[in-house]
Amino acid sequence: MNEFRFIGAAARNVFMPMAKKVLTRRNILHYGGGFTLIAGGLITVQAFRTGVWETGTGPAYKPWLDWNTDRSKTLMPMVRAGILASNNHNTQPWRFAVRRRSILLYADTTRALSKYDPFMRELWISLGCVIENMDITARAQGFTPTLQYAQGRLPARPGENGLSLAAKLNVTKSRKRYLKRYAVIPSRRTNRGPYKERRVRKSFLEKLTVIGNADPDIQMKFYESGGQRQQIDNLILSATRDMVLDTEMMAEQRAWLRLNQDEIEKFRDGPTIDTLGLHKFSLAVAKMLPDPDPDEMDENWFETTRNIHLGTSSAIGLFSMRDPYNKAQCIRLGRIWQKIHLICTIEHMAVQPLNQPFKMVDRELQRRQDPRNRRLIAELIGDEKWHGAFAFRIGRAFYEANPSPRRPASDVVIT
Ligand SMILES: Cc1cc2nc3c(=O)[nH]c(=O)nc-3n(C[C@H](O)[C@H](O)[C@H](O)COP(=O)(O)O)c2cc1C
Repeated sequence: MNEFRFIGAAARNVFMPMAKKVLTRRNILHYGGGFTLIAGGLITVQAFRTGVWETGTGPAYKPWLDWNTDRSKTLMPMVRAGILASNNHNTQPWRFAVRRRSILLYADTTRALSKYDPFMRELWISLGCVIENMDITARAQGFTPTLQYAQGRLPARPGENGLSLAAKLNVTKSRKRYLKRYAVIPSRRTNRGPYKERRVRKSFLEKLTVIGNADPDIQMKFYESGGQRQQIDNLILSATRDMVLDTEMMAEQRAWLRLNQDEIEKFRDGPTIDTLGLHKFSLAVAKMLPDPDPDEMDENWFETTRNIHLGTSSAIGLFSMRDPYNKAQCIRLGRIWQKIHLICTIEHMAVQPLNQPFKMVDRELQRRQDPRNRRLIAELIGDEKWHGAFAFRIGRAFYEANPSPRRPASDVVIT
């Protein structure tokens, strides 16, 4: 029995009878910090003694700590930075072939989400995030990178081994250049907790808007208040409801969710309970309780989207693209997202993608359903040349987010 299961069993035996009514994982996940006081007297001592407060420790998190300790003359430091990138559902859909002066980045389509991302659009955006980290790291290592992206449209046709070449990165020797963004590569996190309702500084949003509009095939706009903000909130919320009602999508989402330390150590991927954005104490309590009922978790996700993700965010950003199924455009969008995320990290601003509407556009297309989400997004954007592709919230977080697990670089390198 591992530590967490032991704690769970102890908590169940000792505290459950009296706590049964109020302390369910559902309530904790739902109300978060609200249960801090109720739970406090019950478990503080136990939790301190057993290390439930510890999150993000152990081998599954080592890649965040030793990412820049490689002193070899190889290009491995770039891979080690690449794997720390933001990526869809933490599926880590990548493989790297490392040569003396180049790296081939492959989409690992065996890790694609067939319901959640049926055309691999988000998978390719994720590879763009990886490339951004590799590019910044190449410069810090004293190289000038040049990049070639795969051409054509999605879905990517995989080779026999499930791999599809996404990009080739060549480097030539130059002077070392440390960007501020390089230093924050290991501290970037997706923050799913509550944000302070204070408005984000206008000049900062303007700075991000310039970055979000630097590519001629990609545009980005913030929605802060008024009718359009209401429209995008409704859009995200109704798409969340669509997903909750789609049993196949929910089953796929759950299959990647790592609810205990054993699963985290075994798979070193997927979202974990540590990354749900709970306050430290609520998280400790949630970890001690039995696994939640899947249906309750789905309903809880809907409520959290409404009350926390949309309810506490002063601004929502929306990226649109000329062609959301163009491989190179997806990669370039990923690079911009990663850049924005790193800049937000420097400024202690929290962000979280909220991509339910675009996942639903693809799902409706896959199932040949009425394209309701596509229609609603088109109404919001109001220009048929542009297609919504990625949304996120931004704000100042109440709590720091925890890291998500990563497979080590050595596991994802091929010869
Ligand atoms: C293309 C893409 C889509 C994503 N969609 C969502 C989303 O809809 N909701 C969410 O909470 N996080 C989303 N994320 C964030 C990932 O889940 C997150 O990056 C991943 O779990 C790893 O965690 P980390 O960013 O803290 O390293 C997305 C990230 C990418 C790159």
